[in-house]
Amino acid sequence: MLVLYATTEGHTRHVAEHVGEQLVEHGLDVRVVDVRSAPRLELSDFSAAVLASPIHASHHDRALIRFVKEHRAALDTLPTAFLSVSLTEATVEAAQSTEARRADAVVQLGKQLDAFVTETGWTPGHVEPVAGALLFSQAGFLKRLFLKAIAKSSKLDSTKDQVFTNWAALDTFVERFAVTWKSAAL
Ligand SMILES: Cc1cc2nc3c(=O)[nH]c(=O)nc-3n(C[C@H](O)[C@H](O)[C@H](O)COP(=O)(O)O)c2cc1C
Repeated sequence: MLVLYATTEGHTRHVAEHVGEQLVEHGLDVRVVDVRSAPRLELSDFSAAVLASPIHASHHDRALIRFVKEHRAALDTLPTAFLSVSLTEATVEAAQSTEARRADAVVQLGKQLDAFVTETGWTPGHVEPVAGALLFSQAGFLKRLFLKAIAKSSKLDSTKDQVFTNWAALDTFVERFAVTWKSAAL
């Protein structure tokens, strides 16, 4: 099984590695690969693929989009899932979000996922929005300012690094994906 990810600040790597470890726990043979180090990856070597991308400036990762466009035909033959990692999903999941803010975040994320599908021409077998992280310590000066602005507009704490990912929900996704794949492979 392939877990292919893109990352800028490193959090989606943690998500992909966690998914990989959980798939191994389910008895599967897994390779976790950074899309930027995978120019010659052969999808025919895999029997399923989980792709993961963060959202930056309202877009999923450019290198991952390029990979999907180039390998769309092969992806269409595999069981697949797409993990979309963002602070917008953190707003959707945050207990302190108002209903209006949550509804707005759902609409915003829906638009960004639609744009990903339109741009790549790929409809993943399953889409799992994942709440991302605010890693101020990983960002340079300008990016830190930008992150603080995002945190402020999303009413999130902007004073320290924070991970919003719901690891238990991610494990539930992995379990469903592994069980579905195993029953289809029988
Ligand atoms: C410069 C920058 C721009 C971002 N833009 C968005 C955005 O438009 N929408 C969003 O939901 N999250 C945005 N985020 C939050 C990221 O999606 C979140 O921090 C994610 O965990 C980053 O994943 P990575 O560490 O794998 O790069 C942005 C983060 C940074 C640093």
